[in-house]
Amino acid sequence: LIAADTTLPLHGQQVLVTAGGTRERLDPVRYLTNDSSGKMGYALALAARNLGAQVTLISTVSQLPVPAGITVIHVDSAAAMRNALLKRFATAAMVIMAAAVADFRPAAPATNKIKKTATTYTLELTKNPDILAELGQRKQHQFLIGFAAETQHLLAYAQRKLAQKQVDMIVANDVSSPHAGFNRDTNEVTVLQPNQAPQPLKVAHKTKIAQQILQLAIAAQTD
Ligand code: CTP
Ligand code: CA
Repeated sequence: LIAADTTLPLHGQQVLVTAGGTRERLDPVRYLTNDSSGKMGYALALAARNLGAQVTLISTVSQLPVPAGITVIHVDSAAAMRNALLKRFATAAMVIMAAAVADFRPAAPATNKIKKTATTYTLELTKNPDILAELGQRKQHQFLIGFAAETQHLLAYAQRKLAQKQVDMIVANDVSSPHAGFNRDTNEVTVLQPNQAPQPLKVAHKTKIAQQILQLAIAAQTD
């Protein structure tokens, strides 16, 4: 049993990983979402488990296999994901926000199915809370890892997220690269940490990228 191996670097540590795109309800039969597959989050959960952590995966996806020994909590919206995280944050040693959280949600979800009576339909959206930034503000001992999904100005935008969200690591992800991002099995990322030069990782399977991200996090934790 991996969790019983006291020599592993994450032994005894609670690691929270979020995965997938959030779903924001419009009416009882419709929602807004995005292209996140959840694969990077699941790979990170597996890698953390293999390093001895007690992993809780807070996931919006149901079609990916859950590795043995990992607790899964299924959520849909950003609000539900936020609640699940806040409930467990105090005892967590590490939080990895691999989820693609919707930036906006319908301002007033309809209780009944919206009818197609009008020729145009305008949907008002309201901003979701920035969960990672909120965790950054509440942070005590927790090591916080965020992602930055970008299609341009990758390092500049990611660097800004590292500082503004007050996190320990940002994994910068050019989602327009043919090797990277949504729905693929491979990824190409650059790891940013405060006061360190950006560390580009070679294109690899998400399993391997996850292992490298955790190795860097463990090295930074024990600094
Ligand atoms: N994130 C979050 N809560 C949100 C939006 C994003 O916790 N409401 C997290 C994501 O899970 C990710 C990181 O913040 O780890 C960066 O997400 P990203 O969408 O790249 O950046 P945003 O801060 O949302 O800014 P923008 O989309 O405008 O680039
Ligand atoms: Ca966003």
